[in-house]
Amino acid sequence: MNPVAFSRNAAVAVITLDSPPVNALGAAVRAGLVEAIGRANADEAVSAIVIAAAGKAFIAGADISEFGKPPVPPFLPDVLDTIERSPKPVVAAIQGVALGGGLEVALACHARVALPSAQLGLPEIKLGLIPGAGGTQRLPRLIGAAKAFPMMLSGDPIPAGRGLEWGLLDEVVSSDLLATAIRVAEGLAGEGRRPVTSAAVDKLTEADRAAFEVQAKDALRKAGEMPNVPALVEAVRNVFLLPFEEGLAAERKLFLALVDDPRSKALRHVFFAEREIAKVPGIGPEVKPRPIASAAVIGAGTMGGGIAMCFANAGIPVTLIETAQAPLDNGVNRIAAIYDISVQRGSLTPEARAARLALIKPVVGLAGAAGADIVVEAAFEEMGVKQQIFGELDKVTKPGAILASNTSYLDVPTIAAATKRPQDVLGMHFFSPANVMKLLEVVRPKGVADDAIATAVALGRKLGKVPVVVGNGFGFVGNRMLEQRTRAAERLLVAGALPYEVDQALVDFGFKMGPFAMADLAGNDIGWRSRKARGLKAPVADAICEAGWFGQKTGRGYYLYPQGARAGQRCPEVEALIQRISAEQGVTRRAFSQAEILARLLDPMVNEGARILEEGIAARPGDIDVVWINGYNWPAWRGGPMYWADGVGLDVIAKRLEAQAAESGDKALEPAPLLKRLAAEGKGFASFGAAAG
Ligand code: 3HC
Repeated sequence: MNPVAFSRNAAVAVITLDSPPVNALGAAVRAGLVEAIGRANADEAVSAIVIAAAGKAFIAGADISEFGKPPVPPFLPDVLDTIERSPKPVVAAIQGVALGGGLEVALACHARVALPSAQLGLPEIKLGLIPGAGGTQRLPRLIGAAKAFPMMLSGDPIPAGRGLEWGLLDEVVSSDLLATAIRVAEGLAGEGRRPVTSAAVDKLTEADRAAFEVQAKDALRKAGEMPNVPALVEAVRNVFLLPFEEGLAAERKLFLALVDDPRSKALRHVFFAEREIAKVPGIGPEVKPRPIASAAVIGAGTMGGGIAMCFANAGIPVTLIETAQAPLDNGVNRIAAIYDISVQRGSLTPEARAARLALIKPVVGLAGAAGADIVVEAAFEEMGVKQQIFGELDKVTKPGAILASNTSYLDVPTIAAATKRPQDVLGMHFFSPANVMKLLEVVRPKGVADDAIATAVALGRKLGKVPVVVGNGFGFVGNRMLEQRTRAAERLLVAGALPYEVDQALVDFGFKMGPFAMADLAGNDIGWRSRKARGLKAPVADAICEAGWFGQKTGRGYYLYPQGARAGQRCPEVEALIQRISAEQGVTRRAFSQAEILARLLDPMVNEGARILEEGIAARPGDIDVVWINGYNWPAWRGGPMYWADGVGLDVIAKRLEAQAAESGDKALEPAPLLKRLAAEGKGFASFGAAAG
């Protein structure tokens, strides 16, 4: 099917893009556009042109899947040049999103008309790029750099109404979009002069330039690792320094360099991986989610409260259930206090705060869950407790209600066995703080109904989460891999590294904090309790807990936190304790380089990831990457652990693991069969999904 249709409406040529799902500007669409513009200009009966689009989007931008492949002409900047230089005026009729190259197409047109629901944005920054088809040159000329730069820096779209106010759009109409665009096009043609090109549009002023420079300074200060922020500043600054054509050429050069940057490649991998997770093996679009109009959350602790907030934030009424009035009141007060902070920060209006709180109904006793379409249990992490709750829920909830456990480690089928409806029981594993963290592991035990899983996934999206369906198994995906990192961090201490060195290696890699700062924040007693329950030992971590150094809450853990300080200071006592333990174990301590520390922390995680894939606990390596980016702050520009491993080379990782296994005698460190096989074949994890079809 031709993705670009040509038709005539009196003297106006209507060019309609129709390339599902989102009219991305792939090679065929670009060629079709050039051809259609040429045809319209060659046709004497045509006096003006409209570019419209079929489907839910106007244009979602350049075709991201083409990046990194050999470029195929016509190139987008040339297509836009053809549009802009058309002797007959061209008008864009925008419905849905006009993003990236899509908005750049609209900017190359001589006028723009949109529906009120249209969204206009230049999100390239989120892919590690900058606009590469004139966006940095045309948008500032049209609306001023001080409005255009923040749009490109955040990458967030603006609604049509604001586009109209800012002069980005010429008209916004709630119906008859095409007819309006045709009328505007006829009007421009009637003016009888050549359409105005971007080079001639100039809203730039000294005041605008000064305002932009202030924004640029701030952006550069916060840019961190991303090379596209300085590139964006440079490109936008060019509108004040260079003629239009030269500015375009400079932008293109910056853009092409970024396309080849490994950080952008990683972000593009994440873009597609985050879309892949929607494809759950064995569950097609014919499986319809059950309707969810109300929810109940069991447990008003930090986790339960955060989950209840997720429902309230999404406009879903939620019953918050506790065993007694006092913990219930505490929970509700904690929620209200969190909303208060949002109001103080200006991110929530007092009215919205009241509306959200009104959606949360506190109730004592499980009978409160009777009317709920879904129940999320966030009670104490102990099988007996969970089974008792689920047994009770089975009696009080209505047929077809989904019963979800927020367990982090426990076996979901054993929980389900307490009910007579295992087909409705699954895991919904939120991450702390639940109202903030994006990751949701949807745990799919054997025996659960497909539509129950589809419901949890659809609901997760409605709650603004990134739902990844995972198999049932200890720690599921995220925590199972985290445990390997925790063990590796402890081993490093005994072998010769100090907590601050281990943490620094991960911070320099791009994590917000390292494992020991993290443990101090979460409370070292949590891991201690869990180790004791499982009969596991970690000499340093155990000794720290035996000393009562539970972390920030006790003023000291691996680090010292004098007077409630958030940033820890090195603790000589802890460092001496670590050295003593090394000596007791007969270990001669040695120095570790940052690279060695990183390899020792991350390789065992990757190894566990390989086992998780082999066991089918995660469907694809990309799913594991999405888990780590959205739940554990793995830096997105490094693409996730499995993507990172492919970049290092699985043969390198396998060799390093073998060496570690030999040195420590720990069999768990031996390369997993999948890792070994792929390494031997010279392949990466990326080939895993492809091989599995
Ligand atoms: N290129 C290729 N495929 C794209 C795409 C793009 N720009 N945008 C979306 N898709 C694909 C998705 O991969 C997905 O494919 P699948 O069904 O096979 O998994 C499908 O379109 C639907 O996407 P979503 O699942 O994300 O659908 P939503 O309705 O939730 O969202 C959207 C639609 C808002 C358009 C969202 O997909 C999006 O934000 N897309 C990316 C927009 C973007 O970043 N554009 C800039 C590209 S870079 C550029 O233009 C450079 C230029 O300056 C030169």
